[in-house]
Amino acid sequence: MPEPTGNRGTGKAPVGVIGAGWVGLVTAACFAELGHEVYARDVVSEKVEALKRGEVGIHEPGLAELVQRNRDRLHFTTRIEEVLDAARLLFVCVDTPPTYSGDADLSRVRAVVEDLPAASDHVLVMKSTVPPGTGETIRRELGGSGYVSCPEFLKEGTAVEDFMHPDRVVVGAAPEHSASADAVAALYEPLGGEIVRTDISSAEMIKLASNAYLATRISFINEIANVCEEVGADVGEVARGMGLDQRIGPSFLRPGIGFGGSCFPKDVSALKLLAGNSGYHFQLLNSVIEVNELQKRRVVSKLTRHLGSLVGRRIALLGLAFKPETDDMREASSLVLSARLRGEGAEVIAFDPVAMENARDLLPGVEMRDTALEALENADAAVLVTEWPEFREIEWARAAKRMNRPLIIDGRNFLDAELLEASGFVCEGIGRPTGSSGTE
Ligand code: NAD
Ligand code: UGA
Repeated sequence: MPEPTGNRGTGKAPVGVIGAGWVGLVTAACFAELGHEVYARDVVSEKVEALKRGEVGIHEPGLAELVQRNRDRLHFTTRIEEVLDAARLLFVCVDTPPTYSGDADLSRVRAVVEDLPAASDHVLVMKSTVPPGTGETIRRELGGSGYVSCPEFLKEGTAVEDFMHPDRVVVGAAPEHSASADAVAALYEPLGGEIVRTDISSAEMIKLASNAYLATRISFINEIANVCEEVGADVGEVARGMGLDQRIGPSFLRPGIGFGGSCFPKDVSALKLLAGNSGYHFQLLNSVIEVNELQKRRVVSKLTRHLGSLVGRRIALLGLAFKPETDDMREASSLVLSARLRGEGAEVIAFDPVAMENARDLLPGVEMRDTALEALENADAAVLVTEWPEFREIEWARAAKRMNRPLIIDGRNFLDAELLEASGFVCEGIGRPTGSSGTE
């Protein structure tokens, strides 16, 4: 293959990105910020046209500015040939959603492999999350071309920050492709995270195991929270006391109404099924999944304890996105919660600062309001679903007067319970004692 044309004499290798979604666009924009010419391909032409106009289309802090600042170095296209001509390293960032069976759907990854010309010497750098074993199969199929596994660990809401300041960068390759792995590692060198060089299957397993472990911590603290409610302990105090043990650490011990998002649910399920397909019963992950499903529903019993039957009750949901600082609704706890509430006969009113447009089609029968205060109007109870900082700024005393009944279930232990109670609210969180006003 002739030397790629895209580096414009900067000495920095041009980078190809396949799939311009959350991971692909962040990858493209961050490599452009590091000075690389980036050629990003997506199959959705409207998305590509919008990106060419500088419109990012997703809510991710800092991303729009990064895309704007690096417009000269970012080239968006629907044509794979354009990427192949310009770059040798191709970062594959296509989606790997769950199939009906819960296994990862690798059809988009397959489509990328099939797009590669025979005897190409491009290097596929797999950032999409794929089950261990996938990369080895593709590597054998590709023959001469390089294959490197480089899983992505960014979180939505802090994706740019996470990409630019990684804890570690995992680079997995077969020994004969160590030069390609060197080239990938070199791209990440300026970011300063530890580079973990390993084989392909281990790299793939590091990704799935990391997500499954983080999800396990969340289900664990949610169960501890549920026990705290039984015995009168405060899970916030418990998590703080546990997290100071350096072997445990403080992260991912926030209880709530379950984890959601495009990755934890699908990756935990994919790992469980991968183990099962290989003949191993991954008992622990069954519990992690079940605890998470039940956790999303516990809010309903909290509400009925205060309100009795929910038939005809008006319940306001504050926040819909699966976490703050994103408009991503994939597997958001609000989807299960609103369906359960409507199933109980409640009327559901909702507000989210950025996710309502994405949520509308997913939440049939749920009425959206333009502000939190409007959502709270005449409500019999409010549920804080997503911990958007602006919810702390609500004028709660005013809100209490506008509600039919000033009751709030804080699903993320995010609000100041004392302030709420001083404003006339009955406030119940997750795994912590309910204030004196909470027992009616
Ligand atoms: P996404 O759905 O936001 O984006 C995927 C993009 O790929 C879409 O724009 C789609 O049109 C495009 N695409 C599909 N087939 C294509 C093809 N053949 N050629 C070019 N483009 C194609 O997905 P995402 O959230 O960015 O996730 C991508 C992968 O990264 C998944 O495997 C996911 O598990 C993993 N991951 C995601 C995150 C995250 O926070 N979203 C973090 C780490 C890892
Ligand atoms: C997660 C991982 O944190 C990333 O490292 C990984 O790259 C990504 O999945 C992926 O593979 O896609 P993300 O889903 O974007 O990132 O966001 P998280 O901050 O991990 O939150 C996931 C869910 O867990 C959210 O619903 C959040 O509310 C919940 N959560 C998180 C808790 O309930 N408690 C916590 O302590 C932390």
